[in-house]
Amino acid sequence: MPAVLFDAYGTLFDVYSVAELAEQLRPGKGAAIAALLREKQIDYTRLRTMSHRYVDFWQCTRDALQFVNAQLKLGLGSDELDALLSAYAKLKPFADAAPALAALKAQGFALAILSNGTPKMLRDVVDAAGFGHYFDALLSADTVRSFKTTDEAYSLGTQWAGRPAQELVFVSSNGWDAACATWFGYRTFWVNRGRAATEVLADPHQIGHGLDDLVQWLKA
Ligand code: LAC
Repeated sequence: MPAVLFDAYGTLFDVYSVAELAEQLRPGKGAAIAALLREKQIDYTRLRTMSHRYVDFWQCTRDALQFVNAQLKLGLGSDELDALLSAYAKLKPFADAAPALAALKAQGFALAILSNGTPKMLRDVVDAAGFGHYFDALLSADTVRSFKTTDEAYSLGTQWAGRPAQELVFVSSNGWDAACATWFGYRTFWVNRGRAATEVLADPHQIGHGLDDLVQWLKA
């Protein structure tokens, strides 16, 4: 069965939906908090991977939030920090996610998430969105104690599908993730939601602005 692998955060679920609560807690700073949190979270996954100091994605998120609190001088107390982390566990899906997943499922694709998120984070965010029935697997990089963009993390998809990477589609809204998945060998689709410049790494096989473009591409 052909299969499509999805990145979770930023691709299916909107990491900036944390900004709403952040804005309530610190008016005028919601967007800055969400953006720096995302940047630091990914930064920490990379630094810990390169330095062989693994902690899971939930801890990287906690640590990033602690940094953001100090860097932006927010003075958030532990209850407020916990509330922001809980919001992270229930990020809203993008409006185009459910229609695209339903369409691909109807076309006969097996669907999986391949994410840095821990198994619990993925289960929680998928359940909160009511997306459980779309997915045949939730593949967490935590099972190999690594993060994308390592081969160990990307190979969770090929192992699950029992097929070579070239026969599998990998979808991410993160330009770096789409580029490095291309290096790994996947057929890649970059959901360029933010109209960002293309990473000067490896060109994804296809670029679109939403998941509806992915459905069109896979129909062709
Ligand atoms: C993920 C992050 C990288 O879901 O977006 O793996």
